[in-house]
Amino acid sequence: MEHNNLSINLLLFLLLGAFNLSNVLARPATFLQDFRITWSDNHIKQLDGGRAIQLILDQSSGCGFASRKQYLFGHVSMKIKLIPGDSAGTVAAFYMNSDTDTVRDELDFEFLGNRSGHPYTVQTNVYAHGKGDREQRVNLWFDPAADFHTYSILWNHHHVAFFVDNVPIRVYKNNEARGIPYPKSQPMGIYSTLWEADDWATRGGLEKIDWNKAPFFAYYKDFDIEGCDVPGQRTCISNPNNNWWEGPAFRQLSAKQARLYRWVRMNHMIYDYCTDKSRYPIPPRECLAGY
Ligand SMILES: *[C@@H]1O[C@H](CO)[C@@H](O)[C@H](O)[C@H]1NC(C)=O
Repeated sequence: MEHNNLSINLLLFLLLGAFNLSNVLARPATFLQDFRITWSDNHIKQLDGGRAIQLILDQSSGCGFASRKQYLFGHVSMKIKLIPGDSAGTVAAFYMNSDTDTVRDELDFEFLGNRSGHPYTVQTNVYAHGKGDREQRVNLWFDPAADFHTYSILWNHHHVAFFVDNVPIRVYKNNEARGIPYPKSQPMGIYSTLWEADDWATRGGLEKIDWNKAPFFAYYKDFDIEGCDVPGQRTCISNPNNNWWEGPAFRQLSAKQARLYRWVRMNHMIYDYCTDKSRYPIPPRECLAGY
């Protein structure tokens, strides 16, 4: 028995190894393999041999990082542990951006801090062909500062979906057939920043940052970018093993995901631009197209 188990384990190990081989290049383990620091070197500290990082915000600066490459479609995820306690006035962001001035495409996760004991808010936004103003906000069903949680963006030809621990909190469907813009032709990089935004972030700017509580720390780890990078993108896309995110299972939410998405919308959504009558007396067209 002992021996059998050992050889089965060994076989599994080898099989998994072979299976993983194709992914190894697409998912480097350390921060610096995938990313570079773009704002304030001395406010980003590498931990655990570069597999995790600490972002620091103090009165002198916030900080930021960006992927070394740009990607056209894919799936990006990272685990984040937000600022504990009084984080009012701080914003941590994780987003994809085409980095083009005029016709910007952008997919945003923004984590808006709060006073101790009050919930963090997660704001998402989608820019397509230069137009954003599509904010939605949810409060989470856990304390995002107590532990690491997984935040991910799936971007394919069919939709953009934002997930928190694999629960969809936002879906932006490709409704180009109805003339609604969809980010599709510009590659995007992956970015993150931690900064002070107490003019708007918490209770609309009423709650100011308390610098006595500084420095503020957020932690990121388990960086996973799976996408066809530019310029290798053409050969990458032509190999179906390389773009699982376009597969039939990822073209719409599964029945289980759709249930979870309804649960989030009913129980955790606190703002939706689609239903903000003062801003949009007539709801934007993508809101009516629905999911
Ligand atoms: C902060 O807490 C207040 C009160 O609980 C809540 O109304 C608000 O949505 C929370 N989030 C932000 C970002 O202000």
